Amino acid sequence: MVPPERALALDLGDDASLDAFARRLQQEAVRLRLVINSSGLLHDGDLQPEKRLQQLRRGSLERLFSVNAYGPVLLAKALEPLLPRQEPVHFASLSARVGSIGDNQLGGWYSYRAAKAAQNQLLRCLALEWERRLPLACVSLLHPGTTATALSQPFRRSVPAERLFTPERAANQLLDVIAAQEPAHTGRFLAWDGTTIPW
Ligand SMILES: NC(=O)c1ccc[n+]([C@@H]2O[C@H](COP(=O)([O-])OP(=O)(O)OC[C@H]3O[C@@H](n4cnc5c(N)ncnc54)[C@H](OP(=O)(O)O)[C@@H]3O)[C@@H](O)[C@H]2O)c1
Repeated sequence: MVPPERALALDLGDDASLDAFARRLQQEAVRLRLVINSSGLLHDGDLQPEKRLQQLRRGSLERLFSVNAYGPVLLAKALEPLLPRQEPVHFASLSARVGSIGDNQLGGWYSYRAAKAAQNQLLRCLALEWERRLPLACVSLLHPGTTATALSQPFRRSVPAERLFTPERAANQLLDVIAAQEPAHTGRFLAWDGTTIPW
């Protein structure tokens, strides 16, 4: 846990906030070895996942893409100058299995699914670029499994207790997955148990 006095505010939907965040880390000469983006947005008040096409709204698509798709890759852009060239560095970002196009058997949740699929593509591009420019970097997209947080709260009635992770368990499982990755594994979409998820 970051002590509160070391925590910095960051709004991934605001370029000025991203710039200020990166500048502050630069001023403190921070050497980054591990970046984990754990932000995400599924619902917020009137913003709810769509059950059918007629519920789709331009505003919801834009908001969900801003946090779930644009945010992670713009964070990578802001932090790139701080990443070491001569040492391994890991950039991990939380995605979601429902962002898998190949695995989509149910439909619905248009904006969230599409925003996570877009994140996957954007960070896959990043992984391929860094493979050439930062060969010691590893980029991973991670599905945490259904975890008891505010995000999943309205949608987990049918999830069996043994498949609902506490945030602590989910975090530890993802740290184990990250620890098992090497630069040669960059650009993978991985579940909490280390298995590969189809794009
Ligand atoms: N929970 C699950 O079952 C589950 C399943 C699959 C995937 N995921 C993914 O796992 C990740 C973490 O989700 P969670 O369950 O921890 O959700 P959560 O409890 O709702 O937390 C989401 C976090 O994202 C932050 N955030 C939202 N908009 C932001 C913005 N514009 N700039 C910076 N931070 C922003 C929130 O910050 P504030 O609190 O300051 O708003 C909050 O800390 C997400 O990417 C989610 O899609 C979760």
